[in-house]
Amino acid sequence: MKKDNDFASVLLAWYDREARTLPWRTTPTPYGVWVSEIMLQQTQVATVIGYFERFMQRLPDIQSLAEVSEEELFKLWEGLGYYSRARNLQRAARLIVENYDGLLPNNENELRKLPGIGDYTAGAIASIAFQKPTAAVDGNVLRIFARLYKDDHDIGDAKNKKHFHALVMQVLPPRRAGDFNQALMDLGALICTPKAAPKCCDCPLKSFCMAYGDDCVNQLPVKSNKISRKIQQYTIFLIIHQEKILLKKRPSQGLLAGLWEYPNLEGILNATEARFFLQDKGVAVDTITPVGSAKHTFTHIQWQMNGYLVKISKPLPLFGGTWISYQALKENYALPNAYQFYTALLDQLFAPKDKQMTIFDYQNE
Ligand code: ADE
Repeated sequence: MKKDNDFASVLLAWYDREARTLPWRTTPTPYGVWVSEIMLQQTQVATVIGYFERFMQRLPDIQSLAEVSEEELFKLWEGLGYYSRARNLQRAARLIVENYDGLLPNNENELRKLPGIGDYTAGAIASIAFQKPTAAVDGNVLRIFARLYKDDHDIGDAKNKKHFHALVMQVLPPRRAGDFNQALMDLGALICTPKAAPKCCDCPLKSFCMAYGDDCVNQLPVKSNKISRKIQQYTIFLIIHQEKILLKKRPSQGLLAGLWEYPNLEGILNATEARFFLQDKGVAVDTITPVGSAKHTFTHIQWQMNGYLVKISKPLPLFGGTWISYQALKENYALPNAYQFYTALLDQLFAPKDKQMTIFDYQNE
């Protein structure tokens, strides 16, 4: 087994050869690093790339982010999920304009005071954008260090965070902390992957890795703390009148605050119950067609949904909603990923006639 102090330089040499080319790395600015780190919370690199490029083109600086309308911001974020990230990004941009002369603070402690920036993100921004000698410890880093040191502290237990943070700080090269942190991110994504198939043969650190040496890579890290999720069931109504769809805005607080959604009702109704429910509300239903069920899993909640396509001939004001053309929906209204299955159905329904399937060709997996 080799010594710790060789480990950082071997990792950096590997990073110099193998680093992924990513748009926020090409000409890094503090603003770009910040936006990318927020997008990368909970979201894979491959998904973020396109969003990041579009976002930076439309909102190239903190000022433009501070000023953009919430509707447009959410539209730029549509599909990325965890929309509170976008809202916090804008709240932080406004605070930066007001309190920091429009410049992102350059140290971890000030960064951590901004909405949406926790320990990991503060460390990542401070090291990558401002070359500060700070660690950025996320799940990837915990996994890598648990394996390198054959360390069986439970990475799911928040009490052990300090322990792993100290291990990283012991080997972090102060002058290239940003590269070191990003090298760990790449190693965690490409080589030292979770349970399934770590690519130990290609790992630049294998001669340092105690778990590899003792053939127990797949037993580490130890991770308890299975998340328990609350199940919530909904009936979703895709209510159509001619070329228009009924959408309603979610409340301004709570899950998916301020986004648009299809009218829905808590609980799963069968087709007869759904028809009665709508008729009870005064809706003259022309046709009601079951379009299938879908699930969406949030961190602490799972939605189980069952949907109906409802055609009506009188577009009454219903559910406190708004009638919106399909085109406007696509261009200006941000709907959560949770409804993707139903939005895809509408995409089919409103596709040019030669590209349409019938609604019954649809199967949810
Ligand atoms: N995940 C989080 N931050 C990242 C970064 N800067 N590069 C690649 N993956 C990341």
